Amino acid sequence: MTGGPGPEDGGKGFPPAGASPAHLFLVGVGGVGSAFLRQLDPVQDGALARSGVDLRLVGLFRSASGLHRLQGIRPDGAGERLVQEGKGGLDPITTILDDPAPRRILVDCTADPNIAEAYPRLLDDGVRVVAANKLAFSGSQEQWRRSRWGRRGRAYLEATVGAGLPVLRTAEDLVETGDQVRSVEAVLSGTLAFLCSEIMAGRPLSRAVEEARARGYTEPDPREDLSGQDVARKMLIVARELGLHVEPADVALEGFLASSLTGPSPGDGAPIADHDGGFRALRERALARGARLAYTGSLREGRIRVGLELVEPDHPFHGLRGSENTVLFRTERYGEPLAIRGPGAGPAVTAAGVLGDVLRAVRERGAWG
Ligand SMILES: NC(=O)c1ccc[n+]([C@@H]2O[C@H](COP(=O)([O-])OP(=O)(O)OC[C@H]3O[C@@H](n4cnc5c(N)ncnc54)[C@H](OP(=O)(O)O)[C@@H]3O)[C@@H](O)[C@H]2O)c1
Repeated sequence: MTGGPGPEDGGKGFPPAGASPAHLFLVGVGGVGSAFLRQLDPVQDGALARSGVDLRLVGLFRSASGLHRLQGIRPDGAGERLVQEGKGGLDPITTILDDPAPRRILVDCTADPNIAEAYPRLLDDGVRVVAANKLAFSGSQEQWRRSRWGRRGRAYLEATVGAGLPVLRTAEDLVETGDQVRSVEAVLSGTLAFLCSEIMAGRPLSRAVEEARARGYTEPDPREDLSGQDVARKMLIVARELGLHVEPADVALEGFLASSLTGPSPGDGAPIADHDGGFRALRERALARGARLAYTGSLREGRIRVGLELVEPDHPFHGLRGSENTVLFRTERYGEPLAIRGPGAGPAVTAAGVLGDVLRAVRERGAWG
C-alpha cells in the first residue's frame, strides 16, 4: 500500500525544508540487505549535510512481501516492519516505476535474475541502480551493456566484486587515466579463500563448508561458489570494466570440487564429504613443497582462466588468510603490481560497498538535476 506523506515514522524531525528527497528501494532483506539497513541509519544525516539530498528509504521487499511508504521507513526496525505490515503481491519494479519521486534508487540485494533483467527499463526511466547482485553484469556482453548504462541513469556495481574493496573503481580509474592493464590475477571468492585456508589448517573440506555457510560467506546457493561460477562472473565483470568484450563461454573454468589437482572427482552429485580425501592429499602435497592452496582467476591477453592452484612461497597469494580477497593489476604505469587486498565476503563488508555506491549515486547529480 502506498501511504501519503506525513510525519508518521520516517521523519526524524528531518529534513529541513528545501532538501530534495531521493527515494531508496531496498529489494532483498537477507544477510546483505539487513546489514545495509543497519549501516544506512547513521549515515542519512551526513548524506543530507554533504549533498543536500534527503536519502529516504521508501520501499522494502522480500520475495513474497513488500512495503511502500512515501513518508519514509526508518531503517532501524524496517525488517520487522516488513514482516508486520508487508503486503503480498507488491511488485518491486512496478512500485519503483510508479513512484512519483524524480530521484529514485534501486538497491538490489537479491540474487534474482528477474530483478536483474529489469535494470535497463529502470535506468531508461531515470532510476539509479545499485547492485550487490552480479547477474545483470555477468551474463552476455549485451545484457551487461544495457544494464550498466541506460538513457537516463547508470548502475553502480562495486559490491559485486570484492564486496567492499575498491576493485572496480580502481579498474575504471586505470582505464580512464590511460594506463594499459597487462594482466589481472585475483582471489575473488571469500568463500573459497576461506575453504583453502581451513583445508591448509587441517580441517576436512566438508566441515569447512559448514563453517563458511554458518558465517554467511556462501552465496544464497552454495553450489555457485563450489562450481567456481561466482569467480567466473566476477572476472567477467572486471574484464568488462577494463573495456574488454568477453562472453561467459570464453572463460576457461575448472570448478573447485572438479579440480584436476585433487585427483579423480567422486562426481557432481556426490556428498561434499566424499571430496575430503582428495583435498587432504592435496594439502599434503602443498605442505611438502611449502606451497598453499588458492582458487584464482586470471586475465591475460583477453583470456580469463579460473581454477584451483598451488601457490609457491614467493607468490603474493601465499600470504592470504581467512576470507581475504586480493586483486593484482599489472599495468604499464605501475612497475610493481597494484594490489588491493582485504576481506572480500560477509554481509557487513558487502553492505558497506553497497552503501558507498548509494552515496556516490546521490552525489552524482547528472540528469537528476
Ligand atoms: N554475502 C556476501 O558475502 C556477498 C558478497 C558479495 C555479493 N553478494 C551478493 O549479494 C546478494 C545478496 O546476498 P545475501 O548473502 O544477502 O543473500 P540472502 O541472505 O539469501 O538474501 C537474499 C534476499 O533476497 C530476497 N529475494 C530473493 N528474490 C527476491 C525478489 N524477487 N524480490 C524481493 N526479494 C527477493 C530474499 O527474500 P526471501 O528471504 O523472502 O526469499 C532474501 O531476503 C547476492 O546477489 C550475492 O551474490 C553477497
